[in-house]
Amino acid sequence: MTYAVDTRAVHAGRADLAELGVHALPLDFSTTYPMHDQVAAGAALGAFADGAATAATPVYQRLYNPTTARFEQALAELEGTEAAVSFASGMAAITAVLQAACLMTERRHVVAVRPLYGGTDHLLSIGLLGLSVTWVDQDEVAGAIRPDTGLVVVETPGNPTLGLVDIATVCIQAGDVPVLVDNTFATPVLQNPARLGASYVVHSGTKYLGGHGDVLGGVVACAERRAGALRQVRILTGAVLHPLAGYLLHRGLSTLPLRVRAAQATAATLAVRLAVHRGISKVHYPGLPGSDPRGLVGRQMRGPGAMIAFETIGDAAAVVAALRLITPAVSLGSVDTLIEHPALLTHRLVDAQGKQTGGITPSLLRMSVGLEDVDDLWADLDQALTAAARATVSVAAPAAVPAAVDAQAAVLAAPVVAVPEPEAFALDAVSATSAQAVNGSAPVPA
Ligand SMILES: Cc1ncc(COP(=O)(O)O)c(C=O)c1O
Repeated sequence: MTYAVDTRAVHAGRADLAELGVHALPLDFSTTYPMHDQVAAGAALGAFADGAATAATPVYQRLYNPTTARFEQALAELEGTEAAVSFASGMAAITAVLQAACLMTERRHVVAVRPLYGGTDHLLSIGLLGLSVTWVDQDEVAGAIRPDTGLVVVETPGNPTLGLVDIATVCIQAGDVPVLVDNTFATPVLQNPARLGASYVVHSGTKYLGGHGDVLGGVVACAERRAGALRQVRILTGAVLHPLAGYLLHRGLSTLPLRVRAAQATAATLAVRLAVHRGISKVHYPGLPGSDPRGLVGRQMRGPGAMIAFETIGDAAAVVAALRLITPAVSLGSVDTLIEHPALLTHRLVDAQGKQTGGITPSLLRMSVGLEDVDDLWADLDQALTAAARATVSVAAPAAVPAAVDAQAAVLAAPVVAVPEPEAFALDAVSATSAQAVNGSAPVPA
């Protein structure tokens, strides 16, 4: 029986709860686990060191924790993959994939499509991990692949300008090279990259998965044959997810579909209103006409999402300073609406070329729409945009919201049902032989 995403979100990763006789997710804070049979404990430790998901005893929290393991299982069910491996943050998850796919395989070249989250961009650009990177447009991936390419990295919708990347086309271009898709903005509710051929589906759980701005975490959904190497990296680098974070992320999944769809409906309304506001020169939102030239909403994504970026006529930082309700803060995916200036904050460290390619201009703001009333949010945006624009140029009274504008928003916000949910595990095309080797002790080429 395959359940819909709303049902999975509530029940996934909880199969053992009835047997345990509990209703809420059990929290296990143990750092170590007593085991009188030291030979069996040693065998368990060896199994984890080889990349196993479970063993006879957890041995030690850095090797295994039942609370975080339940969250991993739930996330894998939502993404339609065999496995998921959690990490201390989204950046730790991305770093682990680079280590497993590039360092452990001696393929130290990465092909990446901009824009990416500023932290990911900076990590790749400065060569901290000893990797070289070729930045390309999404149609140029095939031409950039080399014999030593270990990974292709894309993010869709891209942070911060929300351009969409055609995942299936990139995966075909990548051939045998695994593709990492950062699915943080879309969430598994709106998009399942593994279905389209992605090998690693990464989330900053800090965002929509947790959903309340109170937990830092990351997770990679993938085939079991790739999960082993990620677990090996996690054990050695120690970038584990804390059990309390695993608990909060798992609890957050239960309301994820509701939160994403509600925020998306509000975002669609705001995007359409912003597009005709006098204080705005451009709105970036995948649901707006002309913003999705490849027709990926409805084919790849189940809806345009709840992130909006826009370019202001007045000083963008002054717009943020004038807001009274919307939270002026980095991060996204929280219950409250968050706004930030990418060029000054999240993408500050992206080099000039990257800023230009990624469209990260001084007038750009990125907004993560939350669960507040749409008209309250609009009133706040309207007054701040108008005040900032008036300080720059002479702007007449704020634009009223014509009925036709909201009618268009209602169409955008309607759920897009054309993209099927994952029915079975999506497995990427790595041979069974290399799968065995990845799960064994020796790192192998992917
Ligand atoms: C798309 C995306 N990926 C990854 C990250 C990094 O996640 P974390 O802050 O959990 O390390 C972020 C953070 O903003 C992000 O926006």
